[in-house]
Amino acid sequence: MMVPTLKVTGLQKSYGPTIALGGVSFEIVPGEVHALLGENGAGKSTLVKILSGVVQPDAGSAVLGGAEYTPRSILEAREQGVSTAFQELSLLTNLTVAENLALPELKKSALRLVSKRDNEELAAATLAQYGLELDPRAHVSTLTLADRQRLEIVRAMSKRPKLLILDEPTAVLSSTDWLFALIRAETARGTAVLYISHRLNEIRELCAHGTVLRSGRSIATAELDKTDDAAIFEMMVGTSLASFSRKASTSKEGDQPRLQVTDLHAGDVKGASFSVPVGGIVGVAGLDGQGQGDLFHALFGLTSIKSGNVRVEGKPVEMRSPAHALKAGIEVSLLPEERKTQGIFPSLSVQRNVTLGAMSKVSSLGVVRRSRGQRLMREVAKRVDLADRYFNFQIGELSGGNQQKALLARVLSTGAKTLLLFDPTRGVDVGTKQAIYEAIQSYAASGGAVLLYSSELSEIVQLCDRCLVVYDGRIVAQLEGSELEERRIVAAATGHFEGSQVRSAA
Ligand SMILES: Nc1ncnc2c1ncn2[C@@H]1O[C@H](COP(=O)(O)OP(=O)(O)OP(=O)(O)O)[C@@H](O)[C@H]1O
Ligand SMILES: [Mg+2]
Repeated sequence: MMVPTLKVTGLQKSYGPTIALGGVSFEIVPGEVHALLGENGAGKSTLVKILSGVVQPDAGSAVLGGAEYTPRSILEAREQGVSTAFQELSLLTNLTVAENLALPELKKSALRLVSKRDNEELAAATLAQYGLELDPRAHVSTLTLADRQRLEIVRAMSKRPKLLILDEPTAVLSSTDWLFALIRAETARGTAVLYISHRLNEIRELCAHGTVLRSGRSIATAELDKTDDAAIFEMMVGTSLASFSRKASTSKEGDQPRLQVTDLHAGDVKGASFSVPVGGIVGVAGLDGQGQGDLFHALFGLTSIKSGNVRVEGKPVEMRSPAHALKAGIEVSLLPEERKTQGIFPSLSVQRNVTLGAMSKVSSLGVVRRSRGQRLMREVAKRVDLADRYFNFQIGELSGGNQQKALLARVLSTGAKTLLLFDPTRGVDVGTKQAIYEAIQSYAASGGAVLLYSSELSEIVQLCDRCLVVYDGRIVAQLEGSELEERRIVAAATGHFEGSQVRSAA
């Protein structure tokens, strides 16, 4: 019988009163891509941290290639043949691409011993080998989140591990082709891969087996061919999945649009014109790095506008800072990582973080505020499916998906009339997505306007009335009604236009 690459038995880990893992057992054989499934907060990243030497378990054991495995650090894990692309990325943003690729083997001080030139040449070769077009000398802080994610993946792969761990590697990637080809090359060499994603279609494409975690325990290892989505979902949450259907749009095109953008030039955006009606949900789709990031930043006053104009309810507004945007009734939800610099207070509780924006607008009497805050929190948490027990956690102690839910709860509770949502369900579990879709739709139905970028096309097709497809900084198509289909979005996003079927933007 084949010796498993990894076998874990009864792993447990608590953080104070929180039981993050309450008994996890499974094994992975060489050349296998093994899925790890579970809803937000189920314990997936905690398991990853244990296997990567970041935290130590309270109980249980792990055996790697037949030998006891108890790594005390990322470096030790690496030396024993385990490397990881982390969900929250472990790159040092003030260092270059080449310097990051050399970590964690080289400590910052040791970096100076290897000539910078040699290290850059080595990095260039590695990047070429994995098909990643990045300048080895670029600072990681200048890269898009998608490129940082790719670099995190390439760094883990380039260590030639026995076990490669990928924690939600595709959450910010709008195409999986590059990654899946690399994973297949790895497994062909006998590497075992532990793969985490909330996207079941990806898991089905890559994995034969998957272990399901629920509330920190491994419930079962399923043979995925023989298990349908509903059954997997039931294992994950213990109940069956409610289905979501797209409701008719409530937007009235005849009215004054809520948001009107004309010939906008900002950052990588080269002339964008579109409008978002009252009650409308307008999607933005595109491959990574086609200007969608700058479009959202410009509309929130973070990227300066070179020319063109923005009107809110017909009135021109200057978007010179987020304060201008907020004054115009525009609230934005960007990725958590960027959010850190935009008013998230890591040491405050989840409730304080979520209700801060809305509470500053109501009475300042402490008592009133507290009870109102609680009521608001409960109400908005329900809309994004965030469990009560998290309200008093520091926001940094939440799992990745639960942080995302809290951030979305916050923008939904501010009372803004326009929301810019950038990949709002990134890393959120399947069940919660439905709750969030409903929250976004009811926000629009009650007179809000939404501009939504998503790296998942199915989300745009399900949720939006209209979709702007961006390519090389321009809006190359606006699809709506029966034209709003995944294959048409893909065609436009890759520069293939289907003649008159795809209307070019005005
Ligand atoms: N440093 C910490 N302090 C306190 N609790 C923590 C800490 N890290 C994780 N937890 C808790 O442990 C539990 C499991 O979190 P974990 O990050 O492993 O979830 P996950 O399955 O990766 O979820 P997601 O899909 O959202 O990424 C959660 O309840 C989380 O709040
Ligand atoms: Mg996680």
